[in-house]
Amino acid sequence: MAQLLEVEDLPELSYTPEVAERTRELYERVQNVIPAFEWPAFAPEIDAIRRLKRERNAVVLAHNYQTPEIFHGVADIVGDSLALARKAAETDAEVIVMAGVHFMAETAKLVSPEKKVLMPDMRAGCSLATSITGEDIRLLREAYPGVPVVTYVNTSAEVKAESDICCTSGNAVKIVESLGVDRVIFLPDTYLASYVAKQTDVEIISWHGRCEVHERFTGEEIRRYRRGYENVVVIAHPECPPDVLDAADFVGSTAQMIDHVRAKKPPRVLMVTECSMSDNVAAEVRDVEFVRPCNLCPHMKLITLPKIRRALETMEPEVTIDPQVAARARAAVERMLEVK
Ligand code: 13P
Ligand code: SF4
Repeated sequence: MAQLLEVEDLPELSYTPEVAERTRELYERVQNVIPAFEWPAFAPEIDAIRRLKRERNAVVLAHNYQTPEIFHGVADIVGDSLALARKAAETDAEVIVMAGVHFMAETAKLVSPEKKVLMPDMRAGCSLATSITGEDIRLLREAYPGVPVVTYVNTSAEVKAESDICCTSGNAVKIVESLGVDRVIFLPDTYLASYVAKQTDVEIISWHGRCEVHERFTGEEIRRYRRGYENVVVIAHPECPPDVLDAADFVGSTAQMIDHVRAKKPPRVLMVTECSMSDNVAAEVRDVEFVRPCNLCPHMKLITLPKIRRALETMEPEVTIDPQVAARARAAVERMLEVK
């Protein structure tokens, strides 16, 4: 790959009256989560990205953990890992820009091999994805012959290629039960595995991967919040440790957490997950008070508006996958998408 242009070397943009007018309506939607003094820095980038998307026939897919100026400002499709995988397969656009982490871009490429998938910063990884390799799975298969391997999408294409079927946090129990077996190998998140094991009679053999963001929450911290914020409703992501999940009122994928807030509108809520998500929901659901423990995902935070603009200007960096690996990895993702 050619040397990537530094974001500092991109053409400079100004906050002109025209840009202000074109982005005025958008700012009204996000003003409770983006301070007015920050908007002149974001608006010209958003305006340029919107123009580039039209010119390139591109869409921006953004995970729920992206910051509000990306999530509300430039994304065409937002959601959890499952929704992003489904929608990537459905879009008619020729180019996908993934505002998320690398495994999400690879998944988009797997389900849309004919499209160009751009990753604004290739360094945006995931501690779960780096916790396991294809070789690890081959060794596990030797240790547990005939036991199917269910792999969380937070993994590399190389790992997916060694798997029977993928799952996300939104469908993990359903996927495990869809196999009709007594035992599965479930990789790589040890906490998601123990959460799934509590919801099913299928025996779960797990791995030792952890999310570096969710593993930092503790049950004691949740109890402290409950003491400090009367009647707070606690909703947690299943990548959290078991004592956190035991202390929560609701557990679900990022999309399921958002749907829960939209549907139940609790007066006060604590979302035990990456902290940009509360901002994104708060922009939309105004009558809920969000209590925010702030654990940031350093990988998600590598994605910025200037890097998205750079990707669309230069059409780089592009995500590619070895065709033989891709064919096997795609089969595992498609098997997941077929489970209704
Ligand atoms: P979701 O599939 O729930 O969006 O989770 C992805 C993720 O990386 C959570 O840390
Ligand atoms: Fe990976 Fe955790 Fe970041 Fe999600 S929050 S991308 S699981 S490191």
